[in-house]
Amino acid sequence: MSNKLRLGFVGAGFNAGFQARALRFVRGVEVAAIFAPEGAPQLAEQCRASGIGEPKVCATMKELCGAVDMVGISAPNFARLDLMREINQHGANLAGVMCEKPLARNMVEAREMVKLASPFKTAYLENQIHMPLVRNGKAQLASLEAAMGAPYIVRSAEEHGGPHSGWFWDPRQQGGGVFCDMGCHSAAVGWYLATPRGKPLNFLVPHKVQASMALAKWGRPFWKAKLLADRGVNYDEAPAEDYAVVNYTFRNPETGELVQVQATDSWCYSAPGLKLEMECMSPGFSLNINTLTSPGSLFIADYAAVAVGDMESALEKSEAGRGKLVLMENEPDTYGYVSELQDAVDAFAAGRDAMLNFGYGLDVARLVMMGYMAHEEGRTLLCDEIQDELETYVPLIQQGRGKEVLY
Ligand SMILES: NC(=O)c1ccc[n+]([C@@H]2O[C@H](COP(=O)([O-])OP(=O)(O)OC[C@H]3O[C@@H](n4cnc5c(N)ncnc54)[C@H](O)[C@@H]3O)[C@@H](O)[C@H]2O)c1
Repeated sequence: MSNKLRLGFVGAGFNAGFQARALRFVRGVEVAAIFAPEGAPQLAEQCRASGIGEPKVCATMKELCGAVDMVGISAPNFARLDLMREINQHGANLAGVMCEKPLARNMVEAREMVKLASPFKTAYLENQIHMPLVRNGKAQLASLEAAMGAPYIVRSAEEHGGPHSGWFWDPRQQGGGVFCDMGCHSAAVGWYLATPRGKPLNFLVPHKVQASMALAKWGRPFWKAKLLADRGVNYDEAPAEDYAVVNYTFRNPETGELVQVQATDSWCYSAPGLKLEMECMSPGFSLNINTLTSPGSLFIADYAAVAVGDMESALEKSEAGRGKLVLMENEPDTYGYVSELQDAVDAFAAGRDAMLNFGYGLDVARLVMMGYMAHEEGRTLLCDEIQDELETYVPLIQQGRGKEVLY
């Protein structure tokens, strides 16, 4: 009998497909079941073809929970809570539950997710903290940090041209625009890079927050019409931000020192792929990461471009199928999916939470809500003063009232 943990995928879209690519490099796990309204047979075939399991396609969550040791939620954000309720009801034997970012769309939902997951070991899937470049960079600078001191400024960005599925564009379903979708990455990895080595993930205390959010690209007539034609989304009805810059000031509770973290996210970036960019400034040394700088490239001439079937075959979110394109050795590894999944599998096998658990996902949800609140109020917020309000806060953009704060 195999001693691998049996994983059940919930959701079989873009993200689950990416995770399946990563699982070829992860030990101690096989894909045993899939539950999703769409895409499950295709994902099952991908798993079989790449040798990561012989999953059965399940008709219900109850059936899935009975067939696996661990569940991975890769379904849309609006489905999180109902799925977690079912896991809570049917998953008594599970070794652990993983959930994709964001944990939830607001604090009420995030607290409910944590509560429903309390019988289980958990993994909050924030891949960027697991990026080998992030982890190795931090490790390599450890001795310098010991000698010179911790970082004082971090800038973290994720930018591409806009998401692939219609539900991402409906802030009532997704939770907001780009800041709910990708700000949760940038705020988390920024917080992580700023944290002094050896300290817990939530050691730095949020002190102040400022934000500026805008509808920069997708509110313009050409792009609005394209959104309607390609994704069936009418952005006049419930627009959301496609550009966000949120500045956090964190306080070191031991030294009182302040650390600046800037999270920049956009769906406005035209490039041959997704850009993840992190800069970490410390006294006398720095760390710089940009995933669009690769030692590899492709070139496709105009007369050959007619043969390109899928622009994203070179790189996730590529907007071009010709000219000079970025080529990467192993995207799931570069973006941290391999390490985050290995970490979760090892943790569940050992009977503990992953490095990032649902409680951490709740902390990140709070940072995201602070960003929206600061933008809505148009002023610098002192984090201590808004803690209670954040607990029940639902951003206007999430309520479908983006017009009131984006124009
Ligand atoms: N870590 C990352 O960088 C990253 C990247 C992409 C997506 N994500 C996250 O992954 C999740 C899924 O995104 P995606 O890009 O795969 O979306 P998608 O639209 O490509 O796929 C969604 C999948 O979920 C299924 N689904 C819909 N409703 C469901 C329900 N009620 N129960 C079960 N399955 C359901 C759909 O049929 C589909 O198979 C989102 O939460 C997103 O934030 C994370």
